[in-house]
Amino acid sequence: MRFTFVTLFENLVKPYFEDSILKRAIERSLFEIDFKNPRDYAFDKHKKVDDYKIGGGAGLLLKPKPLSLCLDSIIEKSPNAHIIITTPVGKLFRQNDAKRLAKREHIVFVSGRYEGIDERIIEEYADEVFSIGDFVLTGGELASLVMCDAIARNIEGVLGNRESLSEESYEEYLLEAPSFTKPNIFKKNPSPSEFLKGNHGKITALKKTLALAKTKFHRSDLYLKSKILQRIKEDEK
Ligand code: ADE
Repeated sequence: MRFTFVTLFENLVKPYFEDSILKRAIERSLFEIDFKNPRDYAFDKHKKVDDYKIGGGAGLLLKPKPLSLCLDSIIEKSPNAHIIITTPVGKLFRQNDAKRLAKREHIVFVSGRYEGIDERIIEEYADEVFSIGDFVLTGGELASLVMCDAIARNIEGVLGNRESLSEESYEEYLLEAPSFTKPNIFKKNPSPSEFLKGNHGKITALKKTLALAKTKFHRSDLYLKSKILQRIKEDEK
């Protein structure tokens, strides 16, 4: 698996892979990363990569030509590359996208800067267009990193413990149940006594109740979906 970051600012992205879990995964050859700078494909005297919007409007856009040459050079070597463009006007990136994309052989993240990217690049090259949330960042680098991290941890072997993938948040629209570690009592607050007793059936049932409560409190939208799913499953029994 390879991730290519198309960005004017490699230094914003690279350090994230120089420590911790993803660094180890790269050292173990579980995936590779590389970088392409559209400026290297701008052939005018000033290596210009941005320009004013046709028809007016605030800010500058990434020009189509350098970006297009840059993407062509990637596709030429890797025809199956899956191109993802980051923008606040994309569909929301979700956990099931992270799992699905972890099976790809090559993902290319194109990070917008300034006021975004010329729409014709999106139409011509994007396999998918993602936003990471209903807010506007100064550029797509963080969005690319967020998605890359979420995808990479679903690649076989990146996380040591397989269970950490199966019990986590967003499985069946539920947030993960609260977790506790030692000491058993912290600031006069005990961890749930059921967790200490070792009855796995009861622990699982309690975790499900706590996960539902947490989801209802923080994410009523997900809670409704998880309730509907639960009802369908019960009807199927
Ligand atoms: N670029 C700027 N804001 C963004 C967002 N919310 N998601 C993805 N890319 C972005």
